[in-house]
Amino acid sequence: MDFQLTEEHLAVRNAARNFAQTDLLPGVIDRDTHQKFPSEQIKKMAELGFMGMMVDPKYNGGGMDTISYVLAMEEISKVDASASVCMSVNNSLVCWGLERFGSEEQKERYLKPLAQYGIGAFCLSEPEAGSDATSQRTTAEDKGDFYILNGTKNWITNGNSANVYIVIAQTDASKRHKGINAFILERGMPGFVVGKKEDKMGIRGSDTHSLMFTDVKIPKANRIGEEGFGFNFAMSTLNGGRIGIASQALGIAAGAYELALKYSKERKAFGKNLSDHQAIQFKLAEMATKIDAARLLVHQAAWLKDQKKDFVKAAAMAKLYASQIAQEVTTEAVQIHGGYGYVKEYHVERMMRDAKITQIYEGTTEIQKMVISRELLR
Ligand code: CAA
Repeated sequence: MDFQLTEEHLAVRNAARNFAQTDLLPGVIDRDTHQKFPSEQIKKMAELGFMGMMVDPKYNGGGMDTISYVLAMEEISKVDASASVCMSVNNSLVCWGLERFGSEEQKERYLKPLAQYGIGAFCLSEPEAGSDATSQRTTAEDKGDFYILNGTKNWITNGNSANVYIVIAQTDASKRHKGINAFILERGMPGFVVGKKEDKMGIRGSDTHSLMFTDVKIPKANRIGEEGFGFNFAMSTLNGGRIGIASQALGIAAGAYELALKYSKERKAFGKNLSDHQAIQFKLAEMATKIDAARLLVHQAAWLKDQKKDFVKAAAMAKLYASQIAQEVTTEAVQIHGGYGYVKEYHVERMMRDAKITQIYEGTTEIQKMVISRELLR
């Protein structure tokens, strides 16, 4: 067993840390307040290779392993969880899914630009189908050489900033999940409209929209995999996505902890630093222990995926635990900051709001427990 990161891993982590501190930190409060998508910053992330990290270099990717990816995700999420969810969706849900299951033609046309520049969106959730993902209401009618898509998707990350959208839809409801397909849509296809932007509690710099489809004509060549493979495609893709969101939750927690640690050494109360009070020391000890435990789960899941071993349970456990401790650690970070922690000028206030979504998207806490218990009982 080896807990040592390689030189390459350390270099990726340093590059992500430097980028986050230099390019993301300065405007993060303003982007959160005004719900501004970090367009310039995402462009720079793409130049640095963070948008297609695990994609084979022959498709313009970085050819890196999942450990490198989670290290970069943690550093970027420490500073700006809105930027990191854009990165996570593009890497884990869109690029990975296309590389693993797409046709050669789809990889040439869509994966190459997505791995180099971004930005893709993954469209599964609907107004009436969130956790119960088989209950897709969006329909894709088979017309021979093409499909006709109708329906609405909700809470879509990168909804207005993506160029390419992977959309899940029902072709034959009588076949339940075996009647579901996944399609590649391009922005601007006739009948495809980007709907309302969500006014969210957290990750407010991230671009979350509903999408509407009215008689959108999709060539058959844009279906991913065989007829009826769409649900299995979505589930397989989400397994890896959950490692990305687990590393995001870990990063939010670690970022809040680092700020709380620093603040506790600077702020004085009752004649000594906060960090000299046992009440604060014990909080810091608990926060650091939870973060280390979450990091071990995240790295275990990433390692299993890199070893091509079954990582479904490990990914769900990592997401379940990291998202839970992100809640706890950010709440304690606010508590250590006292009144300052409750105002927007201090980053921990945003981090506490950002942490909540990690228990909801890419499978709620309850869904992770379903996945884990099914794997245990199988
Ligand atoms: N990995 C691979 N395949 C899986 C799987 C997994 N984790 N879970 C289920 N499947 C497969 C099953 O093997 C089965 O396939 P076969 O018939 O070929 O064997 C098929 O999927 C159907 O499985 P179930 O009968 O178990 O399906 P179910 O209706 O009971 O539901 C569920 C399964 C796990 C609850 C699933 O609906 C689920 O994961 N729901 C959560 C959806 C989700 O994560 N949404 C997130 C939205 S995307 C997002 O948030 C992105 C973003 O923008 C940030």
